[in-house]
Amino acid sequence: MLDVTQLRQGHHQMRRLLGILAREAATLRQGADADLALMADVLRYLTEYPDRYHHPVEDLALWRLAERGSLPRSAAEELDFEHRAVRHHGGQVLQLLERGLADALAPRAWIAMAAEQYAAALNAHMTHEERDLLPLLEEALSPADWEEIARASARPADPLFGERAESRFGRLRASIAERRPAVRARWRSADGSASLSEE
Ligand SMILES: [Fe+2]
Ligand SMILES: [Fe+2]
Repeated sequence: MLDVTQLRQGHHQMRRLLGILAREAATLRQGADADLALMADVLRYLTEYPDRYHHPVEDLALWRLAERGSLPRSAAEELDFEHRAVRHHGGQVLQLLERGLADALAPRAWIAMAAEQYAAALNAHMTHEERDLLPLLEEALSPADWEEIARASARPADPLFGERAESRFGRLRASIAERRPAVRARWRSADGSASLSEE
């Protein structure tokens, strides 16, 4: 059933993927050979599934709250904007990765920086929602609200974590499984540049 638990689960899955993206980006930044194809798979999944289902569901839920006056309009606009920014940014990083895969001379440092910035922005967006949106949704939306939101959103099959997982994401699935039990990703920004570390 669609509810806040499902949204939290989505954040957990996205953070696992950002952990892989950040690890490969750090390798690339250090001038070593990174797995660009795996990085591209992360971006492909994030732009194909969460960008088309997870965040749009949140948009429906948050505007419902804003209409009822339980979420300030400015807060709703900010989160809505973050969704558009994440979608746009994800598309650009995917393009860069595809260019990197096709052209050995494409600048690696540039690709690494773009991937790290994207990972930082998506992580910050989820933290923002966990602080300002999810608790409110938990409190204010009824099962009937969630049913209406579910009816209004076209749920595609999840090609990575779902029952109908697709073989094109097989390598990414294996990479996620390898990394267990490193389940928590933690952010630090000692020198002002955010980076992802794992526990
Ligand atoms: Fe979101
Ligand atoms: Fe979210």
